[in-house]
Formats: sequence, structure tokens, C-alpha cells
Amino acid sequence: MAGKFCGFRMLSFSFFFVMLALFVSCSPGKDRNSSGKRDSSNESVASGPEKGFIVGFSQIGAESAWRVRNSESMQEAAEKMGIQLLYANAEQKQENQLKAIRSFIVYQVDVIVFVPIVQYGWENVLNEAVTAGIPVIVADRKLKLSDPDLVAGFAGPDNFEEGRSAARFLLRKYESSAEPVRIFEMRGTEDSSVTEDRAAGFREVLAGSNRFEIIYSESGDFLRSKGKELVENFIRENGGFVFDGEPIDVLFSHNDGMTLGALEVFDGCGIKAGSDVTIISVDAEQAMIDALKEGKVNCVVECNPDLGETVLALAEKLVNGEEIAYHTIVDGQVFTEFENYDSLPPRGY
Ligand code: AHR
Repeated sequence: MAGKFCGFRMLSFSFFFVMLALFVSCSPGKDRNSSGKRDSSNESVASGPEKGFIVGFSQIGAESAWRVRNSESMQEAAEKMGIQLLYANAEQKQENQLKAIRSFIVYQVDVIVFVPIVQYGWENVLNEAVTAGIPVIVADRKLKLSDPDLVAGFAGPDNFEEGRSAARFLLRKYESSAEPVRIFEMRGTEDSSVTEDRAAGFREVLAGSNRFEIIYSESGDFLRSKGKELVENFIRENGGFVFDGEPIDVLFSHNDGMTLGALEVFDGCGIKAGSDVTIISVDAEQAMIDALKEGKVNCVVECNPDLGETVLALAEKLVNGEEIAYHTIVDGQVFTEFENYDSLPPRGY
């Protein structure tokens, strides 16, 4: 099987389909039977670093530093574990993910891993994977499925808990005041589980107190450019970071990319982020930890992007015929203005 990819380890989406056809036709005979299917009876597991199995990985894209690190983590883990990884970048389009997954099925990879950009619309392709006998692991974001058994399992952060952590920080920050607290929420991609869960966790904790009011909530699609545009337009339309003439106290941003966009706008119009407006952000990129240390941000909730080893260890178990847990949660920490992070190691993203 080691020769099947002619020495390649990773492919990018742009030339994936062309290369797929090429690989299918140039694969050594011992790896495929006359119908072009992989002939497992002729396969052997290579010794040493090569484990001899193939994972097709459909990634959303590269919308944030977090996402870039998430892809790197998969690639690094594959290298380390001797797993061949077919990487397909969907450039933010569900249709590209569907095409990539179908290509993985045609190629008969051993395991499919994908990060669903949105929660819905996957049942057909997952049924096709089941029919082909290829197990699927969902990474980072979750799915809404009528039949949970369409996938082998999920591995990723607890986005609901991230929303809760953001809200708990606010309860602590404003515990000694009785004033109302007005919140501007910048959500991530619509219909994604991560957006839904962060929003729900945040609301769950704040529901216990009627002082906190989310007066505005809009999607910035996890993009720095859209975060910037959203805050810029809001300030222009409302004559400042105010709503109905009253100042907004808090920006809760679902990711660091959008927060960085908002910080640019605040900077440009003399609003002191971190003191005029309390800022809470999710991801914990280096840039946001730096902003926290500078006092421009008040709370950063980590969403751990380093899922590679966890996800590929699950894939390996599946290849070996072992059971895996349906949910594998990767923990994250919370960084707040109440602590000192001078000795925090570099984040790596
Ligand atoms: O799904 C995780 C989210 O997606 C991260 O918070 C965000 O930065 C990324 O784009």
C-alpha cells in the first residue's frame, strides 16, 4: 500500500481531483483488484513510521489563524504517526466539502475526517460513506443528524462551555455593580454548531441575571474583514458604539479574527478597547493574548485547535477494528484580566 500515492503525503484541494484520477490509474496492481478497488488481501502494514493507512481530511478553509493551526495540527500528527493524509481545503463552501468527501469514497480511503462548516445537509454523503464501509470522524464542529450512527464519532472542543466561560467572566467582572450591562455579540458562521453552542452557553449563564442584555447580535462569519465591517457600520449608523443613545458595555466576539477587526475600528475612532468597552474573545491566538496583556481585551476563552493527534488516534483505532467513544472533548482554558500571563509559552497560532 505504501506505493499507492507515489510518495505523496498530502494533496491540496485545488488539484486534488486531477491527482485522484492519476493516482487511481498509476497505483501498483498489488493494491487494487481488476475493478480498480483496493484489494485488502494484498495489503500489508508497513513497518517503521508508515502505518499504511489513509485518512481523507476535508477542512473548511483557512478563514482564521485558528483554522490554519488546526490544519497544521492534523498534518503534523499525520507525519508523526506515519499516516497518509489527503487534505482538501473547501474554501468555505459546503459543496466543496461534499465533493471532497465523495472523492475520498471513490478512492476508498480508510477513514474520512471532516470539519462540517454547517450542521445540516450531510446525510446523503454520509449514507454513501456507510455503504462504502468507510468510517467518518467529525472534527471540531458538530452535526445535527437524524441517525447519529452515520458517523463513528466526534472529537473537538466544547463550544457550549466556551460560551458559558465567556458569560461567567462577565458575572465576575460586573459583580460589584447593579447597573445594566449592554452587550454586542458578534457571532460566527450562521448554522454552524460552534456559533449555535457559543451563543447558547453564553445565554444560559446570563439567564440567571436580568442585568445583562444582548442588545445586538450579528454574524461576522469568523472573518476579520467582516468583524471590522460590522463594527464600522454599526458605529456609523448609530453615531458611536451606542444603541438607542446608551453606550454598549461589552463586545462578545465568537472568534479572535473578528475581534482583531473590531479592535482596529475602536482604535481608529478613539474608543478604548478594554476600558470603554469590555472585550471577550474566543480562540486564544497569540495576537489576542498579547492584546489581553496590553489591557485591550479583558477575557480570552481558549478553543484548542490542536486536534490532530486526538483525531488521528481515533482513526487508527477504527482501522484496527477497535471501538471509539462517540464524543471526545478537548479541553481549553480561560485567560482573564485577573491573572498575569507574562510567563505563558508562545501559543503557536
Ligand atoms: O470552529 C472553530 C472556529 O472556527 C474558531 O473559533 C474560528 O476561529 C474558526 O474559524
